[in-house]
Amino acid sequence: MYIALKVTLQKASPWPAPCHSSQASRAEPPITDQGKTPPHTNNMGLTQDPNFQKLQEWFTAHHLNLNLRHMFEADKERFNKFSTTLKTEDGDILLDYSKNLITDEVKKMLVELAKSRGVEAAREKMFAGDKINFTEGRAVLHVALRNRSNTPIVVEGKDVMPDVNAVLEKMKAFCHQRVRSGEWKGYTGKAITDVVNVGIGGSDLGPLMVTEALKPYSKGGPRVWFVSNIDGTHIAKTLAQLNAETTLFIIASKTFTTQETITNAESAKEWFLEHAKDPKVKDFGIDTENMFEFWDWVGGRFSLWSAIGMSIALHIGFDNFEKLLSGAHWMDNHFRTAPLDQNAPVLLALLGIWYINFFHAETHAILPYDQYMHRFTAYFQQGDMESNGKYITNQGTRVNYHTGPIVWGEPGTNGQHAFYQLIHQGTRMVPADFLIPSQSQHPVRDCLHHKILLANFLAQTEALMRGKTTEEAKKELEASGLSGEALDKILPHKVFLGNKPTTSIVFKKLSPHTLGALIAMYEHKIFVQGVMWEINSFDQWGVELGKQLCKKIEPELGAAGEVTSHDSSTNGLINFLKKNFA
Ligand code: F6P
Repeated sequence: MYIALKVTLQKASPWPAPCHSSQASRAEPPITDQGKTPPHTNNMGLTQDPNFQKLQEWFTAHHLNLNLRHMFEADKERFNKFSTTLKTEDGDILLDYSKNLITDEVKKMLVELAKSRGVEAAREKMFAGDKINFTEGRAVLHVALRNRSNTPIVVEGKDVMPDVNAVLEKMKAFCHQRVRSGEWKGYTGKAITDVVNVGIGGSDLGPLMVTEALKPYSKGGPRVWFVSNIDGTHIAKTLAQLNAETTLFIIASKTFTTQETITNAESAKEWFLEHAKDPKVKDFGIDTENMFEFWDWVGGRFSLWSAIGMSIALHIGFDNFEKLLSGAHWMDNHFRTAPLDQNAPVLLALLGIWYINFFHAETHAILPYDQYMHRFTAYFQQGDMESNGKYITNQGTRVNYHTGPIVWGEPGTNGQHAFYQLIHQGTRMVPADFLIPSQSQHPVRDCLHHKILLANFLAQTEALMRGKTTEEAKKELEASGLSGEALDKILPHKVFLGNKPTTSIVFKKLSPHTLGALIAMYEHKIFVQGVMWEINSFDQWGVELGKQLCKKIEPELGAAGEVTSHDSSTNGLINFLKKNFA
């Protein structure tokens, strides 16, 4: 069985005509924004901003003196000063940013910079439905999808909330009355046991991450599977484990033009028809009744809140899906109303700006200490890198500063035994977010596992902050019986410089509400940084060139004769592969 999730495009984009008739984002990117009012800027580049220059002066004069160990020793109130507790409806979320290389003065200057960069006005424009996606002429309204207070949000004179609510109602009915109740039957009359989401990028990573994170809430729902990669292994391995009689496919795509998704959907259909061998299913297709609409103001990487989240709703139930939306809505309200100096997404964004634009940090690690969150970082790799991996500003000029970081990470404690060595003793600065629930979903052996997990989480951030001085290392070596030349030789290897910045994010339990709030927190962090860098966080032209070239190369792989139309490396690779292609 198939259902489909499909975007409804609104009016034509004000930008040059798209090269694909149904999707403006397939167009050549405009280089400049001539004649248009940039959506959120004071028309003064980041590095020209006096508040940026003030910070730069401060940085040049003082950054070498920033020593976290000393700052904690000198100020017993540091934790209280640089932490904030978000009182959500589903428990507190503690944001402890005291182990960052900041002082009161730096924090104040960063907040001033956010103000002069126009963050508050930009935030209002997003919530008001202004077309802040200025290269595609679109509003950015994932916040509308989870607008549980249902206040009107108007785009082109029309309140979008009735349509949002209607699709949610349709999803709810499909989810509960049809699939989870067992009413929806496969072709042999059996209820659905498995759901396969066929999609890629934002039409895969969000539902995959959330269904993994919220597994403990999946009771009574079908199993979910995700097929994204065009590599045939992905679909072959998945289908090998499924029964066509009881499997439902969701074709999740905003554009319905994505090569991987369309090819995988067709392969799934072939597999299904081969198994069904039933004349009744010969006119196989997608009934329009089973299409769930979403809109061009929902970006792919922000779409899990829309009908793209159908696999989530099926797996954990619609009531839990609504709790996920409510958690995100809670964070939206916090982001919209909290003063900038206590605003979690803004604070995270400012810390990022501090490290990227002043310390020149290249990466940002997201390290969840929760096995259920094992795809959280991968999700925000797209969320952040596809949003802020850009160098052209809203003025059409090239930035003279760094923008989005390389986002990476794995859950703790596994990461500790893999890459933490470099964070502790490598040559690069790796600012890192550590996330952990205070309560485990599995209190194995009277919470022994969780206690050890918590201890590791705490130990790592303390170790990264404090390090170990030469003196401390020497004392330890002496205590272990080492002395003389042997001690001197090993000593430098045992020293930890410390002073490595981390932010700790602690929540009660990974519930749907809390997960929704955490996702929205990072989404808004990305938004704030995009505003400060004056880039458009909501397009993704950078993925198009590879797609274009792929279309040219694919037929060449099947054509007779030597390929000579590329550079010698690409020609050489194509010709080698052609010879060896099965
Ligand atoms: O290639 C990038 C991208 O356009 C992402 O932004 C998007 O999430 C993904 O492809 C999938 O697109 P679609 O939902 O249109 O199939």
